[in-house]
Amino acid sequence: MKVLIVGGGGREHAIAWACAKSEKVDKIWCAPGNAGIAEVAECINIGPMEFDKLVSFAKENQVDLTIVGMDDPLVGGIVDVFEAEGLRVFGPRKNAAILEGSKAFSKDLMKKYDIPTAGYTVVTSPKEAYDFLETAKFPIVLKADGLALGKGVLICEDQEAAEAGVKEIMEDKKFGSSGNSMVIEEFMTGREISVLSFVDGKTIRIMSSAMDHKRAKDGDQGLNTGGMGNFSPSPFYTDEVDDFCRKYIYQRTVDAMAAEGRPFVGVIFFGLMLTEEGPKVLEYNARFGDPEAQVVLPRMKNDIIDVVEACVDGRLDQIDLQFEDNACLCVVLASDGYPLSYEKGFPIEGLDTFKDKTDEFVFHAGTKFNEKGEIVTNGGRVLAVTAVADTLKEAKAKAYAATERVSFANKYMRHDIGHAIDEI
Ligand code: AMP
Ligand code: GLY
Repeated sequence: MKVLIVGGGGREHAIAWACAKSEKVDKIWCAPGNAGIAEVAECINIGPMEFDKLVSFAKENQVDLTIVGMDDPLVGGIVDVFEAEGLRVFGPRKNAAILEGSKAFSKDLMKKYDIPTAGYTVVTSPKEAYDFLETAKFPIVLKADGLALGKGVLICEDQEAAEAGVKEIMEDKKFGSSGNSMVIEEFMTGREISVLSFVDGKTIRIMSSAMDHKRAKDGDQGLNTGGMGNFSPSPFYTDEVDDFCRKYIYQRTVDAMAAEGRPFVGVIFFGLMLTEEGPKVLEYNARFGDPEAQVVLPRMKNDIIDVVEACVDGRLDQIDLQFEDNACLCVVLASDGYPLSYEKGFPIEGLDTFKDKTDEFVFHAGTKFNEKGEIVTNGGRVLAVTAVADTLKEAKAKAYAATERVSFANKYMRHDIGHAIDEI
């Protein structure tokens, strides 16, 4: 089978790596890919939003299956374009990817179908927002409606901060048109858990849980990022939490989407918060998480192609999804300055020390080859150094030891990924 993967980050490297392990796969292309993905796939110079070029490529090269890793093309309707051309593709159609593409849509869906989430209101003008804030309870959370690279969420301690936030999102359009409307949401407290799932429109299969570290600095300080590291499974995802979510969140979401005439096929990522009142949905994403994919896929026993094809064909009920009884932790090596401004183009040393290892991986996020053929930094998040072990504690020690083998100018990482592991 010939597979095309759309995207070029650490998540897509993990997907490509999982596909490369499948006996069914003879050839993998990745658009645009990166220097690490190039070890398992042929990278092609087509951007993820160049749908016409991607379709032509898939046709010319008789691609059997396209897997879309990123949110932007999914929300932009890449699946509809591929399907219209008779091409086999894994991911939600545009009318289902809206689950991630519009926070107002997802909040209204949860309200309509009684799926636990924070109380909220949707505003479509700055005046409406300022009026609402007059009588609101603080802290409060402001969310730009559309995609904003995980950065369109502001937690505001008081009315003054919230008013400044409304100005930023809705008037100054700091996150572009995604701030044309906004969700204003009740502030919740509790531990966060990421749960990824495969969905075929009707059936849902839950993957093992993960725990992300979204803030840039140690001690969960600093700005929100795409994720600075994470681990799987989360020890806080107990059987009790699992039972609750199966009963009130997972299947209910899939059924709600089907009832709305928007059957969801692909990966639903449930961002959950364990509040005192029970688990609640913080957000949905319509794709694998990054870096959640890097710690969940190495633990999956199934052949990824079997599961993906079962989703596309609507027979996921026949799949017994299984995970190893082990643990995985990844530490993101970033460029100092991320998520704001940073320099790139620095050569990376030590990548060869991961060759032939079966329990330590380095998934590439922002890397490329320079004109001399060296692998250099090419983004905010550069690499995800990942280790698998019997326990979370061992995985953590192994991953951190492995980070020392990799060096580049302006290397930055958090030193406390997995701190929650030491609390249990
Ligand atoms: P989101 O992009 O919706 O996941 O939001 C990014 C981060 O903001 C989440 O991972 C939480 O840490 C935080 N957050 C979002 N919504 C809330 C909320 N209602 N209460 C508290 N924190 C929140
Ligand atoms: N790591 C969070 C995300 O992929 O959105």
